[in-house]
Amino acid sequence: MTALRSLHSEKKRSCVKMNWLLSLAAVCVLVPSVHCATDAGWCYHNESCSDTNWPTLFPSYCAGSRQSPIDIVSASATADSNLTAFTFTNYNSNSALKKIENTGKTVKIALSSGIKISGGGLSDPYDSLQFHLHWGNGSSVPGSEHTVNGKRYPMELHIVNSKATYNGNTGLAVKDSTGLAALGFFIEEMSGDATGQPAKWNVLSSYLSDIENSGSSMAVASGISLDDLLEGVDRTKYYRYLGSLTTPACNEAVVWTVFKDTIKVSKDVIDRFSTTVRIGGNSSELMVKVFRGVQPAQSVTTQSSCSTFGYSLGLMALSLVLGRG
Ligand SMILES: *[C@@H]1O[C@H](CO)[C@@H](O)[C@H](O)[C@H]1NC(C)=O
Ligand SMILES: *[C@@H]1O[C@H](CO)[C@@H](O)[C@H](O)[C@H]1NC(C)=O
Ligand SMILES: *[C@@H]1O[C@H](CO)[C@@H](O)[C@H](O)[C@H]1NC(C)=O
Ligand SMILES: *[C@@H]1O[C@H](CO)[C@@H](O)[C@H](O)[C@H]1NC(C)=O
Ligand SMILES: [Zn+2]
Repeated sequence: MTALRSLHSEKKRSCVKMNWLLSLAAVCVLVPSVHCATDAGWCYHNESCSDTNWPTLFPSYCAGSRQSPIDIVSASATADSNLTAFTFTNYNSNSALKKIENTGKTVKIALSSGIKISGGGLSDPYDSLQFHLHWGNGSSVPGSEHTVNGKRYPMELHIVNSKATYNGNTGLAVKDSTGLAALGFFIEEMSGDATGQPAKWNVLSSYLSDIENSGSSMAVASGISLDDLLEGVDRTKYYRYLGSLTTPACNEAVVWTVFKDTIKVSKDVIDRFSTTVRIGGNSSELMVKVFRGVQPAQSVTTQSSCSTFGYSLGLMALSLVLGRG
């Protein structure tokens, strides 16, 4: 931890401690340009503004019929041969992570320009703009947004991508039913009793103590790539459905990709999220259980395994024939 602290201690000076008024304007989670006006009016836990009330508070979209997150029932996912591999551009860049911010609702990491995705059955290339996290209360109270066969994971990471033709204008993207493409990754507790793992996750989470209060942010030093953070996930295996933003105004503009493999992170690193950052100023509540409850089911697709399966069957048959000959 000491080495880590000194690694970015010089960045500390650039840490912006905003006042309360500024922090109100800075709480936008997914789409700043669209949601600033309404963000102050929702929350995760207080009865009056919690997710069960979002449909009443934000009826235009939160009360809609393709809302996220959902419970993914793996046996109901139908095969779609269009769901090919993605191309990830600059996911290996060590300077991908620009700024880490406490929005009061999540911890958001703004990405540098030039990071993109394409393929994966998407109609267009998309720019990767930011990622943020959802969590529960420590590794023992899970807080992923999507669930799989009813199972909720400790955390979920969302990479938010905007259709390249909108050039980063998310206000335009949310008006298109496929304007945004979100990549969801489950985070699971690493087995054994390792601490501070993976190393890059340890470095990332060490910034949390610098952004304790809502509205504070800090530059992220180079040295962490998206590939580093997504280690261990086979990115050719995923679920696909059409849904929405999981925070108000819940715009139904999101092509969701939820990866089957999980990112394994040690318990101490997971616990840091629910024990460090706060929803307001320095005496406010800790940010815990920041996820929306599951919404009505949507039809989910997944890769067709037929082509590779057929290929292996063919090879097997061929080797049998050759073996006999
Ligand atoms: C809930 O409301 C109380 C009183 O208004 C406030 O102090 C607290 O921060 C709120 N908590 C959340 C999670 O919004
Ligand atoms: C695959 O994509 C094509 C063209 O977009 C579409 O017509 C077809 O219905 C898709 N296949 C499936 C199984 O969804
Ligand atoms: C979160 O967990 C801590 C430690 O177990 C507990 O003290 C706290 O009350 C929990 N908070 C919520 C909101 O569940
Ligand atoms: C918390 O905030 C108050 C008022 O802004 C300030 O006086 C105090 O020093 C802060 N405490 C810590 C531990 O930062
Ligand atoms: Zn999210």
